[in-house]
Amino acid sequence: MDYVSARPVAPLTGEIAVPGDKSLSHRSVLFAAMAQGTSRLTGVLDSNDVRSTIGAVRVLGADVRVEEAPDEALAISVTGWGDTGPVAPDTPIDCGNSGTTARLLLGVLAGWDVEVTLTGDASLSKRPMERVTGPLDAMGASFQSTGGTLPVTVRGGELTAIEYESRVASAQVKTAVLLAGVRAHGRTVVREPARSRDHTELLLPAFGVPVGRDLIAHSAWVDGPVLPTATDIVVPGDPSSAAFIVAAGILVPGSHLTVTGVGLNPTRIAFLDVLERMDADVRVQPSASAGAEPVGTIHVGYSGSLRSTVVHAEEVPALVDEVPVLALLATQAEGPTRFEGAGELRVKESDRLAAVIEGLTALGASAHAEGDTLIVEGSADLRGVTLASRGDHRLAMTWALAGLVSAFPVTVTGFEAVDVSYPRFAADLVALGATG
Ligand code: S3P
Repeated sequence: MDYVSARPVAPLTGEIAVPGDKSLSHRSVLFAAMAQGTSRLTGVLDSNDVRSTIGAVRVLGADVRVEEAPDEALAISVTGWGDTGPVAPDTPIDCGNSGTTARLLLGVLAGWDVEVTLTGDASLSKRPMERVTGPLDAMGASFQSTGGTLPVTVRGGELTAIEYESRVASAQVKTAVLLAGVRAHGRTVVREPARSRDHTELLLPAFGVPVGRDLIAHSAWVDGPVLPTATDIVVPGDPSSAAFIVAAGILVPGSHLTVTGVGLNPTRIAFLDVLERMDADVRVQPSASAGAEPVGTIHVGYSGSLRSTVVHAEEVPALVDEVPVLALLATQAEGPTRFEGAGELRVKESDRLAAVIEGLTALGASAHAEGDTLIVEGSADLRGVTLASRGDHRLAMTWALAGLVSAFPVTVTGFEAVDVSYPRFAADLVALGATG
């Protein structure tokens, strides 16, 4: 599907609640599937990625009932497999485009006496799985795959607890190992080079699984075996989806927008720190929390004179999904903006480092990489072009936003990729005053 985005004739105004957090929706469904009893989950994102996780736990034996689906938020009840464990389906489980589904499921299945094959779409089939199968193998599970990518067959069993030093700061790796640790005998510890998003550490205790942490050493641990127990979870709005609405408000002259009910977990919102350094008109107002997760409102106004900044490597894990949209904003800042330590972008839903450079260059901006550093020159006049989503939701939304400031409309091909995380993105932009 093509999307054509044009410079709006009037400011963007209004209030909006973005859809449920993708990371928390995956985790809520998975942890509830592992648990004994029935969990009630509300605010769950209804998107292709989360549907992949729901489909997977269903075929593995969890009973998932969608009770309500108002406005792309699912209210679901999940009766988990608990102490009887998952049942292996006869056919492979298709994880679609979802790296979180595939990697977390490998951790969940590693500790059970089952053999299950996971597959994915063309993009997911290129993404590295050894970063997860390596530590799980060391714990005692075995894996078959060609070249370390999907399809992967996991053969689970008795696990031994390990101390794992991860080379990458990745919440998916950390979570997969901790979920296997739930079934292992002893203390399973994961240490990371920098702090990645900590939703798993905050959510597992709600399911009766204590998680130890050392915030200075960037480590987390579970003492297994422990049986998760059902609970009720409210999923807040996704800060990564909110980032696109915030960027729209920053870009369009005269705009004033309010985004409500957004998750404000500090390991997810480093993009707000970067925007502050860029002199963007963004204000955060905390409100009641959703369980252990902080929640609040983001107010944003048009920011006509953005400044360039340096995004340091230690910040990247807490804004890894926001680099494309921040790079677009950087084209409108005065001076060059550097994103250091951005190498992980190469192994996302697309090679986002290459895609951002190519896309920004096609738009008439100037961007290049020096090793793992992305450099975006500012003060660019963007032109109207056609850009491909490359099947990547965050690129599709970034290029749609480019059309809000380009001289002529920007066409985004493959725009349906947004269904992975923010299916009503285009409708929300229109509701705020954009044409499209
Ligand atoms: C996610 C972690 C991040 C992020 C992805 C979701 C998660 O990936 O890019 O969109 O839910 O744990 P990595 O953990 O691989 O950095």
